[in-house]
Amino acid sequence: MCSGLLFSSVTGYGSVEELNDAVINTQKKEKERKQVFNMCGYAAPAIPVVRIGYVGIGSRGSSAVVRMTNIKEAEIKALCDIREEAVKSNQATLQKAGRPAAREYYGDELIWQKMCESDDIDLIYIATSWKWHTPIAVYAMEHGKHVAVEVPAARNLEECWQLVETSERTQKHCMQLENCCYDFFEMLTLNMVREGVFGELVHAEGAYIHYRENFKKNPTMWRLRENFKSGNLYPTHGLGPVCQALNVNRGDRLMYMSSMSSDDFQMAEQAKELAAKDPFYQEFVGKPFRGNMNTSIIRTFKGKTIMIQHDVTSPRVYDRKHLLSGTKGMAQKYPLPPKIAFGHEWISDEEMKQFEDKYTPELIRHIGKTAKAVGGHGGMDFTMDWRMIDCLRNGLPLDINVYDAALWSSLTPLSCWSVTHNSNSIRFPDFTGGSWKTNQPVDLELKGATTSIIKSSFE
Ligand SMILES: NC(=O)c1ccc[n+]([C@@H]2O[C@H](COP(=O)([O-])OP(=O)(O)OC[C@H]3O[C@@H](n4cnc5c(N)ncnc54)[C@H](O)[C@@H]3O)[C@@H](O)[C@H]2O)c1
Repeated sequence: MCSGLLFSSVTGYGSVEELNDAVINTQKKEKERKQVFNMCGYAAPAIPVVRIGYVGIGSRGSSAVVRMTNIKEAEIKALCDIREEAVKSNQATLQKAGRPAAREYYGDELIWQKMCESDDIDLIYIATSWKWHTPIAVYAMEHGKHVAVEVPAARNLEECWQLVETSERTQKHCMQLENCCYDFFEMLTLNMVREGVFGELVHAEGAYIHYRENFKKNPTMWRLRENFKSGNLYPTHGLGPVCQALNVNRGDRLMYMSSMSSDDFQMAEQAKELAAKDPFYQEFVGKPFRGNMNTSIIRTFKGKTIMIQHDVTSPRVYDRKHLLSGTKGMAQKYPLPPKIAFGHEWISDEEMKQFEDKYTPELIRHIGKTAKAVGGHGGMDFTMDWRMIDCLRNGLPLDINVYDAALWSSLTPLSCWSVTHNSNSIRFPDFTGGSWKTNQPVDLELKGATTSIIKSSFE
């Protein structure tokens, strides 16, 4: 087993011993727990105009503000960030979009509490660094707000439980903003799975393989400091879409996982090289960076398997895999272009087009073209925002609920545990309290669809 020194206190657990205790506690909690209220399929009272407060408006949060200005029945009531300049620049975005000025909150790292306490906000949209996601989400729900939280929603097992317990107790939504669930091929194949085109799914793969500039200087630098533990640090982009395809939390559940990490072959060396030229990088020298590649394999209750990978260091082509393999056929998105097969050969472009025409789900038919025009990772970001607002406005259940947020986020601490224990397998907690057996699959019918777009802003 690795030494406790390999863990940094900024990454969720202070030591391997703490992580061991957390795993024991989570198993105990799961045994004792009774679901207070089932948030899967929960329809909150409709909110005709959704009033939003943003917290964390750096790179990602600022794009979210821009996107939201295109939705007519969404009002941006408040902007919050530690940094005044982030608030001011997003205020300028609202002005440019012809939207009313928002209330401003900035200056200290707990200032979001004031925003959450105000009584003219329905939804708190969180895009801060990871360590604040759960504290803000919990506080917001406690103060009567629905929550949309960037990925990963939680950093450790305790936070996963906090989200679940708070959402159930307050009956407030906690949607994890897993935009990849709304990408076009992911949605197409979800519908094809539902229609039985691939037969019974047997195996799925997802990944976040993204050659990132990990050491690039930016105003916050928190993300680099999250790399001092070995495991899958960013699992939800790969895991979310395949869990939806496999009806995880809705008829099936993740049972256990083994996770293996390579050593770090680049980051520690890069830190040394950079620090030799620039003292700014000195704090990263000698740190226990995660391995380049993490591979986690999972088995579900119904006997399906999933592989999830993470590598944001090696020079590789961008890859989220999105591989779905069934008894009749398979789909594989990456490496692009997306492909489908029912045997040895990929189908032709013409056949692919026929499948798209037949199986593109209603949500994409309705908003896909507009979403591409608005932008955000090719349109998936706006599809997600529009759908979330439309569900809130029409009192519909959200596609991604607190159990998904907790389960998908929990892969990180569980993979760290497995990696530090020679890849021994580890059980996933059942955050649904057993309701996974009867919960209904994600709805693809597109009920509602009453939310309008301000076309002049992007056309
Ligand atoms: N879904 C996606 O495709 C996607 C893409 C990029 C980032 N993200 C996620 O978005 C989040 C933000 O990432 P980013 O790249 O924008 O980071 P960033 O550092 O650019 O922005 C984070 C912002 O949060 C602010 N902040 C931090 N702590 C705060 C606090 N206590 N109170 C108020 N403001 C606070 C910072 O000042 C900063 O402006 C992360 O969770 C990341 O994982 C998701």
